[in-house]
Amino acid sequence: MGQVNVLDHPLIQHKLTYIRDYRTGTKAFRELVDEVATLMAFEITRNLPLEEIEVETPVCTAKAYQLAGKKLGIIPILRAGLGMVDGMLNLIPAAKVGHVGLYRDPETLKPVEYYCKLPSDIQERELIVVDPMLATGGSASAALTLLKQKGAVNMKLMCLIAAPEGVEQIKEDHPDVDIYLGALDEKLNDHGYIVPGLGDAGDRLFGTK
Ligand code: PRP
Ligand code: URA
Repeated sequence: MGQVNVLDHPLIQHKLTYIRDYRTGTKAFRELVDEVATLMAFEITRNLPLEEIEVETPVCTAKAYQLAGKKLGIIPILRAGLGMVDGMLNLIPAAKVGHVGLYRDPETLKPVEYYCKLPSDIQERELIVVDPMLATGGSASAALTLLKQKGAVNMKLMCLIAAPEGVEQIKEDHPDVDIYLGALDEKLNDHGYIVPGLGDAGDRLFGTK
């Protein structure tokens, strides 16, 4: 069964507060999402495997460590997931980035796919699927299903804020996928928005609406 991890580092919680605040404008919102994505990437990569190597320092030969194991891939769910990519690449610049385009139909709340472009070797990569919001879970679940159909075998899901309903949906549909959250909120409202949440992540990131 996939694990649910709330990354409650004080810096993540502090920045999330300003991300939630309706008075935070587009520029600051974008910068804060970027920063939180970096902090979450730091936490999510904590258990990456290492291998021992030798390094020549100016003084002597020393035992040291470098990353080993699978290469990484970052998969933002368009469009709001884009806001988390650069922050993650700050820490893992060699990761390849694939894009899955999905929007949530405002009437049915069902995800509609419109774009998919992935690294050719996703089956060999450890993928981190990113989207600020996990609400009903429909979009993330559809993205994970699509990625599995394209060959992905090793995935994590990383979101800033989730509703319990979305977490349950992912656990049911994708029990093999661990979930990493900045915060687990109270519920969804009648329009499928996370309460208290942050509003519409895509609109706040890109200044639309
Ligand atoms: C938002 C968000 C998620 C989805 C979450 O995207 O970024 O992708 O809704 O809702 P769900 O869990 O109920 O599927 P939206 O559809 O607003 O598209 P956008 O990123 O293009 O704004
Ligand atoms: N999508 C968002 O951007 N915000 C929500 O609260 C739910 C879905």
